[in-house]
Amino acid sequence: MRSLQGSGMRVLTWMAGVALVATAAQAEPERILLQQVGPTSALLKWRGGDADQACWARSAAPLRKRNWPLCAPAVETEGGHKQVLLDSLPPDKEIHYLIGEPGPQAAVDPALHFRTPPPNNKPPRDGNTHIWIVGDSGTATERQLNPPLGDGVSLTHPGEALEVKQGFLTYNQGKEPVDLFLLLGDNAYLDGTDAQWQKAFFEIYPEIIQSAQVVPTIGNHEMGGTLFDLGPFLGFPPGRLITFLGGTSSSPDPQSWDDGDPNTVDDGPPYLDIFSLPSNGEAGGVASGTEQYYSLDYGNVHVVSLDSQLSNRDDSQRQAMADWLVDDLSANDRDWTIVIFHHPPYSKGENHDSDVEDAEIDMREVFTPIFDEHGVDVVYSGHSHSYERSYYLTGHTGLSTSFDLATHAELDADGNGASGQDAETYAQISAGSRIDDKVVYTVAGSSGKADELNPCVPPRTLGCTPPDWLMHPAHFVSLPEKGSVVVDASRKELTSRFIDVHGDVLDAFTIRRGDPVKGPRRDRD
Ligand SMILES: [Fe+2]
Repeated sequence: MRSLQGSGMRVLTWMAGVALVATAAQAEPERILLQQVGPTSALLKWRGGDADQACWARSAAPLRKRNWPLCAPAVETEGGHKQVLLDSLPPDKEIHYLIGEPGPQAAVDPALHFRTPPPNNKPPRDGNTHIWIVGDSGTATERQLNPPLGDGVSLTHPGEALEVKQGFLTYNQGKEPVDLFLLLGDNAYLDGTDAQWQKAFFEIYPEIIQSAQVVPTIGNHEMGGTLFDLGPFLGFPPGRLITFLGGTSSSPDPQSWDDGDPNTVDDGPPYLDIFSLPSNGEAGGVASGTEQYYSLDYGNVHVVSLDSQLSNRDDSQRQAMADWLVDDLSANDRDWTIVIFHHPPYSKGENHDSDVEDAEIDMREVFTPIFDEHGVDVVYSGHSHSYERSYYLTGHTGLSTSFDLATHAELDADGNGASGQDAETYAQISAGSRIDDKVVYTVAGSSGKADELNPCVPPRTLGCTPPDWLMHPAHFVSLPEKGSVVVDASRKELTSRFIDVHGDVLDAFTIRRGDPVKGPRRDRD
């Protein structure tokens, strides 16, 4: 979608004098989605319906044309979506919008609203940037693989993504808006088709994505893939242990999955058609040149979405992404820096061991030193269907057996790993180094299902739980529980909470912000 920002869609139409047109006869738009919500503009997308424009106002009532002063035409984008750039918005304000033409009889949905961030490094006016995070949430379309039974049978996790959403809604009680909705990958099983995104995403989160900017990342189920019979390699009869291999890039071109032409449908899965991601730095970060990885600002928060599935698998693409990340983080001036990608650098989830999987090892070895060096505060990944949350870490790129608490983690007064809670709240500027060199890593891949204890019986080593399941030593807490993560980022503190399906908080940590300490940097212990 990169070319759309520079098109003629920025033309605004002043509605005074335009004939009143009721919208009652129009077909309803579907897939209403917000992207790139900045201080003065936002991208509004939808699919279907008759409307060919959208309008915004500071209030939804009274429903008169004069209260919808600015409207802009929609442009067709890839995958049959429509997109409008809502421009000239006031910063740090609640914005109501309407898809279609306003009129005195128009039925305006009061739920269609969002809030713009402040124009600078500040939280919104209620004091916090509010973030909701789900990982591996796409199970509404996941079906039995072993043995494969085909379509129409054996949904394996029906209703579980909705349970997790309900847990968040129970926790939130409608009290706080969602400014950013972060997706940690695997958000539409099995291979990210348009129909799967419809059932597993658009029909699960409609009220969220019409009011919050969606910030996705690419998992191993986003870009197609193939079924692979692993059984014969492990001593099982053919057809008894079918696994899924996600699509990877075969091109050194980091834009290989996106043809960049808004008038055509990309080859392959629709991920890059559904989302319009800021590859040109138009949302505040440094231009990445690809929608596969990108960054953006929202008030006091800088979010980076890395691509651990496509770009990370190719040596040259991985290096290009790392070089861009250094440039991006070096230019970042926001209080809080959050990085998301799918494959976790530290995990002992069922079937997904960061000591074994190449993608996880590469992310740990190549990218965690950059996070340490350039002030990243928190990292969220999925892939493992569990909740695992680390200590406050720095300098660990090896296998789990090489992890040493005293070397790699912030310690409490007793020499144990600090919890990040109460008196052990983390300090953004580490006491030992006097720089912002520590990171909390969270695995939150249980927003659609949670792995269960399933001991490995030889010769089976996959699809079961080894004895050290959920026992990565870098983690303060590991839970086989379904849930999602809520982050509140104020001027002084960032707090991250894991919320279960009942709305209960099962884990939390806080980082207290601080200015760099003047004086020479001390060597790490
Ligand atoms: Fe995954």
